[in-house]
Amino acid sequence: MSSSVERQVLPTNVKPTHYDLWLKPDLDAFVYDGRVQITLQGVEASKVITLNTNELKIHSATLNVGDASQAALDISYDTDKTRASLTFDQGVPVGAQAILDIKFEGILNNQMVGFYRSSYKDEEGNTKYLATTQFEPTDARRAFPCWDEPSLKATFDITLVAPKEMQALSNMNVIADEAYGEEGTLKQVRFATTPKMSTYLVAFVVGPFDYIEAMTSGEHNGHPIQVRVYAPPGTAEQGRLALNVAVKALEYFAKVFGEPYPLPKMDMVAISEFESGAMENWGLVTYRTIYLLFDEKNSSVQFKKSTAYVVCHELAHQWFGNLVTMQWWNELYLNEAFATWVGWLAVDHIYPEWDIWTSFVNDDMPRALKLDSLRSSHPIEVDVADASEIHQIFDAISYDKGASVIRMLSSWLGVDTFLAGVRRYIQRHKWENASSDNLWTALSEEAGLDVSKFMTLWTKHVGYPVLTVQEGESNIDITQSRYLSTGDVNAQDEKTTWWVPLHLKTSDGQVQPLVLTDDHQSFSLPADGLYKLNAEQTALYRVLYPPSAISRLAGEIRKPDHGLLSSTADRVGLISDVGSLMVSGEQSTASFLDLVQAFEHEQQYFVWSQLASHMASLVSTWYEQPKEVRDQLLKVRSNLFGPLADRLGWEVQATDDDLTNLLRTLALSNAGVSKHEATVAEAKRRFWAYLDGEHEAIHPNLRSCVFNIVLNEFEGDELTRAWDAVLAIYQDESLPTDQRLVALASLGAASDPVLVQRCLAMAMDEVQVRAQDVIYIFSTLGDNSKARDALWDYFVQNFDALHSKFGQNISMFSLIVRSAIRGYASLDRVTSIQQFFVGKDTKEYARALDQALESVQVRAKWVQRDADPVRQYLASA
Ligand code: BES
Ligand code: ZN
Repeated sequence: MSSSVERQVLPTNVKPTHYDLWLKPDLDAFVYDGRVQITLQGVEASKVITLNTNELKIHSATLNVGDASQAALDISYDTDKTRASLTFDQGVPVGAQAILDIKFEGILNNQMVGFYRSSYKDEEGNTKYLATTQFEPTDARRAFPCWDEPSLKATFDITLVAPKEMQALSNMNVIADEAYGEEGTLKQVRFATTPKMSTYLVAFVVGPFDYIEAMTSGEHNGHPIQVRVYAPPGTAEQGRLALNVAVKALEYFAKVFGEPYPLPKMDMVAISEFESGAMENWGLVTYRTIYLLFDEKNSSVQFKKSTAYVVCHELAHQWFGNLVTMQWWNELYLNEAFATWVGWLAVDHIYPEWDIWTSFVNDDMPRALKLDSLRSSHPIEVDVADASEIHQIFDAISYDKGASVIRMLSSWLGVDTFLAGVRRYIQRHKWENASSDNLWTALSEEAGLDVSKFMTLWTKHVGYPVLTVQEGESNIDITQSRYLSTGDVNAQDEKTTWWVPLHLKTSDGQVQPLVLTDDHQSFSLPADGLYKLNAEQTALYRVLYPPSAISRLAGEIRKPDHGLLSSTADRVGLISDVGSLMVSGEQSTASFLDLVQAFEHEQQYFVWSQLASHMASLVSTWYEQPKEVRDQLLKVRSNLFGPLADRLGWEVQATDDDLTNLLRTLALSNAGVSKHEATVAEAKRRFWAYLDGEHEAIHPNLRSCVFNIVLNEFEGDELTRAWDAVLAIYQDESLPTDQRLVALASLGAASDPVLVQRCLAMAMDEVQVRAQDVIYIFSTLGDNSKARDALWDYFVQNFDALHSKFGQNISMFSLIVRSAIRGYASLDRVTSIQQFFVGKDTKEYARALDQALESVQVRAKWVQRDADPVRQYLASA
């Protein structure tokens, strides 16, 4: 997808330096009055001032230069470009300063973008609203007229008029709080002037919240920082985990970045309806509730990790993104990739027992490698012209490929050298904008190497290589070529010769720092011929080993200490490579199923997790194969996970660490959905016991697992009763968010057509399911092979309604399109889906559509190629 239009940027005849913004939201009528006074510098003579607005009504605009005041002669809107042009008699003289005074009116929309309303239930169960903001990337212009581009930094004075009993929050601390108006029901809250910042980081929230508070030590920040977690009344204590993590992260980042956090406070707020996961607004980070609130007693361990990570990721942005900002959105990855990598670095510092970098190899890298193995992928650095193009690159390439490439560089340079380079970059560019070239320069200076040459190969080119290994007498020959999961690289695909750190590990335990710089190179080996490439999986490539090498590595895995593969990340990496290469056809599915057998005595969660994800994708791709084949595949899966489930059991022990608890959940889930009898029987027993009020029958870690198993297994009336019970759990407002959410997300596991229709009906019913949560329903239905067609039919029949309900929110609509398509596995489907979109304007979700269709092609080719061999393999196994 290439840019269809030029970068949409504003004329540069004037330059904003300061905004004085006043807003008075009306939480009953869903509108607000606003006034903004913008200080401008005249740069080029012009009578017309053009700035961004979207769905705002400008009542008046006056330009004040010195004592002279001119009212706008004309106000015109360009709704496509989300701009307004104000024509004046004189304009701003070059070199002079002026104040543009605009009175306007806006709507508190329900699309989770701009200045929007978010519904919640009060203590009596009545639906009420709070007002909040989400501006990144291009929606500050929906809240107030502004120059809405990341490089046009300015300072902000913000004033909010709010109901007296509510909290009014913004980026800065409160400097005045006084009664407003005659009725005595309102207050006017004024906040301190912000530092110079980009518009997309401005934020304000008005709503009823409780909070808990802590202070940082001040050791690295110069002075203690006040940190608060704001949550709906009565739930603030659930912010304790996030608060503790935030205090540690702010201290850690001040040290790592060599620069104090520059604001006096950090507020973190749980928002009831939120588009993404969280947003790094400077000093006022907003979160989807599930990523901020965690109940030590009643929440699942899975959400402990995600909460800790999301907090660290957003706080990393306070430096990387907020203090130093990309010039334009083509370098979005600078923000997101870096916050991803350094966010995990902070989690690793706070929770060393979580083995974070193996987690990264298990989750983040495969997401990057998967998306980037499609022709419909894009380079990390990609030009984007307008709002819809910008939105669509918040994806696994910007986040996970970017973070993987940064990890590759940091482990090549050494993390200490890398961070020293980052400090240099931050010192040099703080309060300003910078580009990736600036970062490479600082890193090159620190390392004494040309970092740029290496990095641009990875950031400016799409894809990554597969290294094909051929074994000689005492050497290996390595050939690199682009990896595509369709398995059909041809002359038209971009040809890049990557610069690849090999990290060749040999049986003496040494890792050789070799680099592949050509398409084809030979490297010598020790006499025993035992080796593994990409030790610790710090580099971004796949390895295609010859069968003899795989059996040698399998032999190592079987050893009690796993021999050459003693590193967990190396075992995860091997599974990940073989598991992907079977999809694209370089290796056979049978050889993957053989390799799996070597892990019988495996203890590590991440290894099992990687095995589970490839087994799940095999089972899901084979969904149209004969029942007998599917049953045999389930048997393989059940034989793998059943013994593990038996070993770990259902009772969480006081001595179990977090990874053991994650492993238990994984084992029971995988055993249960593959019909392991003992697990299924126990899940059913515990489910009814739990509903009978025996709360301890299902540990919070295991609720999702049990719901999925029983809704998958029950039939008839029993299924309907169970389904209604799970729905009631979702609706129980007294439960922690994660517990309600796993209930919602499991409803789609039931295959009964009536229940599938009930799920679909809920998706469009705002009273039942918030817009932000609809995607949980669609994605589980899309993953359920027996509900997939019903979801697609529903999508086709309700396309216009879905588009008008969710279409304003570009990210949300892309997710819906993806979930309706991605489960299919036949080329006929690809054709019929393409036909459906003929004649539709798909620009706003083009990437999601292309990528989902291509991944269906990948699955279709895989099953076409390997269905027969797999059937034979299973029959003879
Ligand atoms: N800057 C993003 C928020 C964002 C995402 C804004 C998409 C606009 C569009 C934030 O820092 C972020 O990355 N949030 C993630 C969660 C994160 C911990 C991976 C998200 O929302 O998915
Ligand atoms: Zn981010």
